[in-house]
Amino acid sequence: MMQIYLDSANLEEIEEALSWGVISGITTNPTLMAKETGESAPLVEKICRMLGKNPVSVEVLSTAAEDMVKEAKRIANLSSNIVIKIPMGIEGLKAVYQLSQGGKGIKCNVTLVFSVNQAILAARAGAAYVSPFVGRLDDIGWDGVGLVKEMADIFAKHKIGAAIIAASIRHPRHVREVAAAGAHIATVPFSVLKQMVNHPLTDLGVERFLRDWAQARPEEVF
Ligand code: E4P
Repeated sequence: MMQIYLDSANLEEIEEALSWGVISGITTNPTLMAKETGESAPLVEKICRMLGKNPVSVEVLSTAAEDMVKEAKRIANLSSNIVIKIPMGIEGLKAVYQLSQGGKGIKCNVTLVFSVNQAILAARAGAAYVSPFVGRLDDIGWDGVGLVKEMADIFAKHKIGAAIIAASIRHPRHVREVAAAGAHIATVPFSVLKQMVNHPLTDLGVERFLRDWAQARPEEVF
């Protein structure tokens, strides 16, 4: 069953979303982290504690492979459930390859993936997760969900173990479509998660049930 991650570094959003029982992980990125106040390391530690054993993706800011590896190790030391987000690219692939080697490899999530070839390379280098950016592809007139479908088909055909995290999700329809396309995970902003819950007919239905009950049996409670 497709998992839902929350794409957020905001503690209130994370706490609220976790209480709904639907969230299996967190993804952050430098833009999301920069919106929060205070130092990043304690914030990451707090988020990781809230998630228990579930994964929290935290992105490196370095751009050279060796620096990415050093930074990734520092970040990974903050908590055992951290997944290191590495931007796609040659330096990124080298870093993923080094980090994922050996018995106690650090799990990597290759981010900013916009093509099947990038996804294949990320998985070959050792990524545990690859993140195609659905909304940003749609923004330039391409087909974000189509990319997820093609990736899912190829990963299944070749038994590629990396999990596909459909990212850059902009609305509930994206979630439904990436689920149908075969994404293993969709990471959604809190605004989209709330939209997924709501339906006007549900609200009207509850209102009508309560009204009918109150009219017929104003005194009775279970
Ligand atoms: C994924 O992990 C990214 O944090 C995120 O989904 C990017 O989404 P955006 O295109 O809305 O910034």
